[in-house]
Amino acid sequence: MTPAPLIEFRQISRTYGRGEATIRALDRVDLTIDRHEFVAIMGPSGSGKSTTMNILGCLDVPTSGQYLFQGIDTTGFDRAQYTLLRRHMLGFVFQGFNLLARTSAVENVELPLVYRGMDARERRKRALTALAQVGLSGRENHTTQELSGGQQQRVAIARAIVTSPAVLLADEPTGNLDTKTSREIMELITSLNRDHGITVIMVTHEDDIAAYARRTLRFVDGRIQTDSLAAREIADVR
Ligand SMILES: Nc1ncnc2c1ncn2[C@@H]1O[C@H](COP(=O)(O)OP(=O)(O)OP(=O)(O)O)[C@@H](O)[C@H]1O
Ligand SMILES: [Mg+2]
Repeated sequence: MTPAPLIEFRQISRTYGRGEATIRALDRVDLTIDRHEFVAIMGPSGSGKSTTMNILGCLDVPTSGQYLFQGIDTTGFDRAQYTLLRRHMLGFVFQGFNLLARTSAVENVELPLVYRGMDARERRKRALTALAQVGLSGRENHTTQELSGGQQQRVAIARAIVTSPAVLLADEPTGNLDTKTSREIMELITSLNRDHGITVIMVTHEDDIAAYARRTLRFVDGRIQTDSLAAREIADVR
């Protein structure tokens, strides 16, 4: 028996408001994402990208349709079940999920492990490993405000991966970063996908950032207009 896909959307719609004023942020979206994929989500402003990420991240639920995670239908999960799924399977690098400013890098990275109730020594050990993985050894005790934008983004990524999530969800991970730093962050995310097998789903407006992904979904008006593999992947298949 083939295992269920990691992620499956079945006819997912998300509407806001009602009657004449209804906004259809997502319109009957079908989507399957397998383990170890690296997917970029693109599309114009208001096309449903963040709505999709919020549903993937269990921060929002569809108005209709089903979201299956590892074959398990999450429809009707209670708050505790969503929280468990989020904490154990998902890592977030969202612009809204900011780091604590006057708190050290290592303490920021430990935070998701505190929520898990892990003991302090183990927590510290894992946070230091995650910081080393993102190339921040030596900066563990710097506070957020003592780090550059790119270094802060690395801390955010370390915090997202410290729990060894199956999926990394990134909404514009390189937004506000210069070209060189963006490239470094993308190389880091690429290596997490390639060397650690983390499934990456990333929203971006930029073609050169999307080019790091193997697969690109383009949303238009709440629907997936195109779902394409990178040219180099197609060449590999031939
Ligand atoms: N809380 C909300 N209440 C009402 N409408 C909303 C809400 N959140 C999103 N929308 C609407 O849903 C649609 C999709 O929004 P979404 O945030 O998914 O777009 P996006 O593709 O992420 O855009 P951007 O590139 O600007 O971030 C938009 O028309 C938006 O106005
Ligand atoms: Mg958005």
